[in-house]
Amino acid sequence: MDFMTIMQTRKSIRAYEDKPVSREDLIKIVEVGRLTPSACNSQPWKFIIVDEPEAKAKLCDGLVCTDGLTGCPWRDQVPAFIILVEQEANVKPAVLTHYHDSQRFAQGDIGAACMNMCHMAMELGLSTCILGMNDQKKMEEHFGIPEGNEARLVLAVGYGIDLNPNFVKQRKSFEEVVSFNQW
Ligand SMILES: Cc1cc2nc3c(=O)[nH]c(=O)nc-3n(C[C@H](O)[C@H](O)[C@H](O)COP(=O)(O)O)c2cc1C
Repeated sequence: MDFMTIMQTRKSIRAYEDKPVSREDLIKIVEVGRLTPSACNSQPWKFIIVDEPEAKAKLCDGLVCTDGLTGCPWRDQVPAFIILVEQEANVKPAVLTHYHDSQRFAQGDIGAACMNMCHMAMELGLSTCILGMNDQKKMEEHFGIPEGNEARLVLAVGYGIDLNPNFVKQRKSFEEVVSFNQW
């Protein structure tokens, strides 16, 4: 599948077949995360693959938010998850002098890694949904993530069931978001 087709057809999937994802495929997905560029090549990430029942149960508990508004009601269907943890960026001192904040680019780096992982999954015939509205604290406790690291995103991965195949991608128009040579 060419890249434009991937971009035009990828969508978040929130229903999954009862079919496991192979470790081989999960490893390919995190490998493209690992290869993603980052500010100063700081690679401020760690990827935790969660594909065993006990670990998945712990993760699903972290996908229930106490505010009652968010959460992931279809979490029990998901065969595998990947937690994207933001680590201390360890940016070069010269860059720090300029930006005064070593984590300035880390969330962008995590986002870039996450999207590459979504597209790799798609090439493997898998579907994904990025989950950001999680109980981060609970997740960090459940997985023994040391202080100073942030469980920023969770990626649900599996053989998707498209409940809404006719849904048209909702995006701002090209004209609204693109300009040439000026605002
Ligand atoms: C950083 C980020 C966090 C997200 N968090 C959630 C989430 O917690 N729950 C959810 O169902 N979808 C979540 N999504 C999916 C978005 O709702 C979805 O990407 C957006 O509506 C566009 O739809 P599409 O992915 O089908 O193109 C998240 C997406 C991103 C990029």
